[in-house]
Amino acid sequence: MMKNLRFSLVLVLLYAVHASSTCVDECELFDTAGMNRKTFPEGFIFGTATSAYQVEGMADKDGRGPSIWDAYVKVPGNIANNATADVTVDQYHRYKEDIDLMVKLNFEAYRFSISWSRIFPSGTGEVNQKGVDYYNRLIDYMLEKNDFADYAEFCFKTFGDRVKNWFTYNEPRVMAALGFDNGINPPSRCSKAFGNCTAGDSSTEPYIAAHNMILSHAQAVKRHRDKYQETQKGKIGILLDFVWYEPLTSSKAGNYAAQRARDFHIGWFLHPITYGEYPKTMQEIVGERLPKFTEEELEFVKGSMDYIGVNQYTSYYMYEPNWAKSKDLGYQADWNVGFAFEKNGVPIGPRANSGWLYMVHFGMYKVVTYVKEHYGNPYVSLRILFDLSNS
Ligand SMILES: *[C@@H]1O[C@H](CO)[C@@H](O)[C@H](O)[C@H]1NC(C)=O
Ligand SMILES: *[C@@H]1O[C@H](CO)[C@@H](O)[C@H](O)[C@H]1NC(C)=O
Repeated sequence: MMKNLRFSLVLVLLYAVHASSTCVDECELFDTAGMNRKTFPEGFIFGTATSAYQVEGMADKDGRGPSIWDAYVKVPGNIANNATADVTVDQYHRYKEDIDLMVKLNFEAYRFSISWSRIFPSGTGEVNQKGVDYYNRLIDYMLEKNDFADYAEFCFKTFGDRVKNWFTYNEPRVMAALGFDNGINPPSRCSKAFGNCTAGDSSTEPYIAAHNMILSHAQAVKRHRDKYQETQKGKIGILLDFVWYEPLTSSKAGNYAAQRARDFHIGWFLHPITYGEYPKTMQEIVGERLPKFTEEELEFVKGSMDYIGVNQYTSYYMYEPNWAKSKDLGYQADWNVGFAFEKNGVPIGPRANSGWLYMVHFGMYKVVTYVKEHYGNPYVSLRILFDLSNS
């Protein structure tokens, strides 16, 4: 965990009702390059975030069943150095040390995910009590430390008496695009034109996958509202990845290109969840390949969030492409946009350790403003990437 924190410190900024202070006698001061809590409005909560598979370890132990990632990591060449999730940072055993570190770093929130196949090893049916016990230990220890668990993905019934803030999906767009458009993530499906997959159809499957995730998200929200919200007083939303798309020039075509990118990126999910339909640009471009919601579905899809989460990664300049539109149809090809990292030779921001991540402060501001102005000013849990390596 310590190693992990050093290399990819994740800052969760979220507006929430809680404002508890956890750091009493063991407070340490850190060099934050002039930024401090007073820079943020009262009520901001700072925390860390992880996903189960990346931190728990014990991937095939204590009754956990396989997920699509377990099959994927076993194929040589898929993951650098043939790494697996068998141990990772071993949060399954070292959760107390991890939480102690978060407390020491003065964080107040920890957003973690619950592995479906640790609780239901076969997807449905038999519950793996050892898995449930692990999450109970983790949550109880956080409460003992006066930290609180804000987020989890599953099991309102089992955990909802203590866990009050839920997200149904973590970055569903990434699953739809990387799993079904270029196939670089499991289940590795795509058209031949867009990746190295044995099967798939990039022109339809990403849209079907996203549609099913939106529907299942909305059903989970409905169930939470119908059965648990009144008694548990919890809240629920969806966590979406986004980047900022700035037009490269102020031309009309450049603005359209940037708007198409925003619609195909966050609008794909946020538009139906807010307004009950896909963005107009997507309806026009994707046409018949875009699934439709029935009247009955719309009733529970529209408005299916108490708040949203946004993982904001970086920013790009967008332009109208000066090449012919791809003859092969696919999700990314449908955007039909050009990406640039610089304008007149000046990079959009300092480059972070990952080649595609540029740190762009105005991008963060514009993302928040965009969501506020286009999507009815929802409560937003915002995570930004924060690079300490060269500050
Ligand atoms: C990964 O596994 C393959 C197949 O077992 C092996 O040939 C290769 O050397 C391994 N690579 C590393 C970096 O261990
Ligand atoms: C495509 O995948 C196959 C099977 O996994 C592999 O043997 C081949 O090297 C891959 N080709 C490319 C271009 O990555």
